Amino acid sequence: LKILFVSSEVAPFAKTGGLADVAGSLPQAIKKEGHDIRVVMPQYSQIPQKYLQNLEHQLHFRTRVGWRDNYVGVNTLQREGVITYFIDNKNYFNRASLYDNEDKHIQFAYFCRAVLEMLPKINFQPDIIHCNDWQTGPLSIMLKENYQIYDFYKDIRTVYTIHNLRYQGVFGKEVLDDALALSSKYWDWGVVCHDDCINYMKMAIEMSDIITTVSKTYAAEIQTPYFGEGLDYVLRMNSDDLYGIVNGISHQENDPTSDDRIYAKYSVDNLSGKYENKRRLQADMGLPIREDVPVISLISRLVEQKGLDLIAAVIDELLQENIQLIILGTGEYVYEEMFKEVGWRYPNKVSANIRYDSNLAQKIYAGSDIFLMPSKYEPCGLGQLFSLRYGTIPVVRETGGLNDTISSYNEVTEEGNGFTFRNYNAHDMLYTLRRAISFYHQPELWNELVKKAMESDFSWNNSACEYIQLYCKLLGIDQEEVN
Ligand code: GLC
Repeated sequence: LKILFVSSEVAPFAKTGGLADVAGSLPQAIKKEGHDIRVVMPQYSQIPQKYLQNLEHQLHFRTRVGWRDNYVGVNTLQREGVITYFIDNKNYFNRASLYDNEDKHIQFAYFCRAVLEMLPKINFQPDIIHCNDWQTGPLSIMLKENYQIYDFYKDIRTVYTIHNLRYQGVFGKEVLDDALALSSKYWDWGVVCHDDCINYMKMAIEMSDIITTVSKTYAAEIQTPYFGEGLDYVLRMNSDDLYGIVNGISHQENDPTSDDRIYAKYSVDNLSGKYENKRRLQADMGLPIREDVPVISLISRLVEQKGLDLIAAVIDELLQENIQLIILGTGEYVYEEMFKEVGWRYPNKVSANIRYDSNLAQKIYAGSDIFLMPSKYEPCGLGQLFSLRYGTIPVVRETGGLNDTISSYNEVTEEGNGFTFRNYNAHDMLYTLRRAISFYHQPELWNELVKKAMESDFSWNNSACEYIQLYCKLLGIDQEEVN
């Protein structure tokens, strides 16, 4: 198959959240199954120099975005066998922020159009264009309205993956004409609008051939008002074309036996390196070096979605326990301040690192004992998968992908790879943390749990095949024929 994977962020080039991790590892896994998959993203000035200076210029042309006539440069880079195309326009992508711009509706309308117009010019005619999140929302409607009259585009099918339904790309009505240059009939039909606003997420759900989201539980949840962010009715109407495929992680890049970012390497057969990581992490975080005290970590965007009000509600009760708490992340002011304040009050127990630091993140995954992720909702969640891989036991709420990847430890059957709670309730979370802490103090049992966590397989192998099956189904071809 020939697939174009379109994403507004791709690790290691640019990342604000889990989408970048997916876009940086799923295409590689699909490629390994023998398909021609290529990736395209904007050429932001934030991309590290070491990549920017190695880009290869392919070609350039001009495209129209509403009344605007804009330059499009197309540059490429190969990484692990996959070609990434970078769409270059300094006016749109040399900005202080990736998404937080007044004209983001134009930036990403431009991106979608540039991607579509690039295809014949680079001589790549994909069977499938796979889009992700609101930034790529307008692509499928543009394809159908403006391009499928031409032979080159006629047979292209679209897949759209929702990584987070909350961020929808909501703009005023004038955007339909000014940025998207689409006929007003779509407004009248209700396909592009929700609540009297243009909605990039909704137009993608309505106009893409298949919708996926990043876990089965989230696929079911978003069809209900509580999780639907106002769009549950659209998802229910399109539920025959809605699938949940859980994310994986790159096992190669997240491997405690070879990761250069962590303090000491270790494996299932020899966990001594994990405890070396813990000691060095405690030292670096300014915490007492104590093997008998469990280190609980939280690595997250500090936003409401992540269940931080639950932590706020019981933080003092929690810190009466003999534990250490390490936080890493940035986000909303209230949560940043809350963790800083707790850090000042409990200097020997809490280390609040209010910044983005992917190397420190890896050291924390390796050096802590328990990973806390009490999300209010969670499309998939990757933190719990990274922590399993490094033998750090997740404590999570049973929602979305957390529900599909973590099962609660059962001391009778010895099944389970973490600890879970169901209700969005602070004391349920606290109770579950205390349960995890009590097992931490039974070293034999805990060691078995750590080993089992490290042996669980959340690599892309299975999910990449599920995507390929879906592509084949959409194209009406027998998968046997493709392989
Ligand atoms: C978003 C979601 C997260 C998911 C990630 C990748 O960041 O919030 O749950 O894991 O996208 O799909």
